[in-house]
This record gives sequence, structure tokens and C-alpha cells, in this order.
Amino acid sequence: MKSVPVIVITGCSRGIGRALAKSLGEKNYRVVATARHRESLADLPVQARLTLDVTKTEDVKNASELVKEQFGRIDVLINNAGIALKGSVEDVTEGQWQHLFDVNVMGPVRMIQAFAPHFRQQGHGRIVNVTTLSTVWGTPFLGTYAGSKAALETVSMALGRELSPWGISVIVLRIGLTDTELLAKSHERSERWVTPRSPYWQQYQTGEKIFNRIRRYALRPEIVVRDIERVINRPHPRAIRTIPWSARVSEKIMPFVRILKIGRR
Ligand SMILES: NC(=O)c1ccc[n+]([C@@H]2O[C@H](COP(=O)([O-])OP(=O)(O)OC[C@H]3O[C@@H](n4cnc5c(N)ncnc54)[C@H](OP(=O)(O)O)[C@@H]3O)[C@@H](O)[C@H]2O)c1
Repeated sequence: MKSVPVIVITGCSRGIGRALAKSLGEKNYRVVATARHRESLADLPVQARLTLDVTKTEDVKNASELVKEQFGRIDVLINNAGIALKGSVEDVTEGQWQHLFDVNVMGPVRMIQAFAPHFRQQGHGRIVNVTTLSTVWGTPFLGTYAGSKAALETVSMALGRELSPWGISVIVLRIGLTDTELLAKSHERSERWVTPRSPYWQQYQTGEKIFNRIRRYALRPEIVVRDIERVINRPHPRAIRTIPWSARVSEKIMPFVRILKIGRR
């Protein structure tokens, strides 16, 4: 009998990670759902629930050891946890830049460093790193976020080449705008510098108006999850995949949309 794949997912307290853990858990994968606060995972139909803050090396190490001990294998690692931050490159503080890169770039790197030895030992597996369409066009006032995800994409390309001799594939999933709390949380984090005192205030307002029009087309997490599941099951997936199909259309047309013209002379 073929054994049931073990899938580890970060950031399952809400949003895409939560919907993904639920959906895969209901399909009888062995899902290890992780989150900073374990109680947020209580009602998920998964095999294991772990406390894991991706900025904490100790949490990451414990998770890797527990997965090895309890399941003896790992088939898919999904680096989903991430944060966004609203603000111009100039306005965002140095500390916030560092925090965002710590979560979005170093978080997946810590996970990869902890789990790669297991993958190599078993000689198969897949690492999925979640990024965004913003890496393609550099959405104004999301430069921190887009920059961190672009870094993760490049790291993923190098990693894919490094791990291929062991039969391990690395996939970047570039996801289109999805209806989660990601951006609301980013507004909360940005209240200190997105104020009328900022030289970018007028542009923030214009960006906000355009964004509010676009957000009504945001995807439901379930749609995104369906596509993630398809890609993780594909025998030979592309190294970088934009999902879902509507995001692939946006990828082509976005360069002509007004939001990118904000601030252009
Ligand atoms: N929504 C979109 O439009 C969109 C588009 C493209 C890509 N993405 C990407 O998709 C992924 C999921 O985002 P989402 O939209 O589902 O956002 P979300 O609803 O805000 O969920 C983000 C998840 O990441 C977790 N997280 C944040 N900091 C963490 C840390 N230090 N350690 C562990 N977990 C942490 C959050 O946990 P807490 O509850 O503990 O904060 C939450 O579970 C992110 O990588 C995001 O960049 C989202």
C-alpha cells in the first residue's frame, strides 16, 4: 500500500494556510498544521498541531524533530506563513523592514534548513514557497512585502538546483489577491507612518481608492487552495507557478493598470 503523504504547513491560524490545512486534512493527507498560537488550530481536521513561530529557531527545530519522530517522513513542506506591510520604501522603519524580512525570507530559510536533512535522507520530497504577484510588478507602497517575496523566489531557484540531485523539488507559488486578513493586518502595522505627515500621503490615498476597487475581485481562499493542491500533486510542476488562472491573466495586464502609474512623472 502506498503510504499517505505527510504535509507540514506554516501559518495555519487563518487565511490560506488554514483553508489549505482543512482541505488537505479532510482528504486524508497526514497534515501537520503549525501556528504561533496552537489553540488557533484546535478545530482543524489534522494529524498534528504544533506551536511554531517561523522567527524562532527553537520552534522550527522542535517541529522538525517532532515530525521525524512521529511520522518518520516528510513529503511536502509548505512555507505559507507571511506578513505584509503598507508604506513607501522611505517611510517604513528599519526595524519593520528587518522584521518583515525575518518572517518572509528567514522564516522559510529556517524551515528549509531544519527539514532539508530529512528530505535528503529519504531521497524525495517537495518544498513549496508561497509568494505573490507583487514580485512581478513591484506594487507601490508594498515594496517591503514585494521585495521580501522576490528574495524568496530567487532563493527558491537556487535551492531547487541544489536539492535536485536528491530528487527534491522546490516550487514557488505566486498567488493572486486573495480575500484574507493579510492586508488589514498590514494596515494595522503601518499606522505609525501612513499619516497626513508623510510626503506620500496623497499617493497613499490614491492607491487606497484603487485598491478598494480591485479588492472586490479578491479570490476566495478555497479557490486558491484548490490550485495549490493541484500543483503539489503534479509529477513535474514548474519551478514558478502563478495561481489561479485569473492571476495569470492579471500578471499580463497589470503593467497597464493605473495603480502602477502612481507617482510616475
Ligand atoms: N492574501 C493575499 O492576497 C495573498 C496574495 C499572495 C500571496 N499571499 C501569501 O499567502 C500567505 C498566507 O497569507 P494570507 O493571505 O492567508 O494571510 P493571513 O490571513 O494574514 O495569514 C497569515 C498567516 O501567517 C501567520 N504568521 C504571521 N507571522 C508569523 C510568524 N512569525 N510565524 C508563524 N506564522 C506567522 C499568521 O499567524 P498569526 O495568526 O499568528 O499572525 C497567519 O496564520 C502569505 O505568505 C502571503 O504573503 C497572500
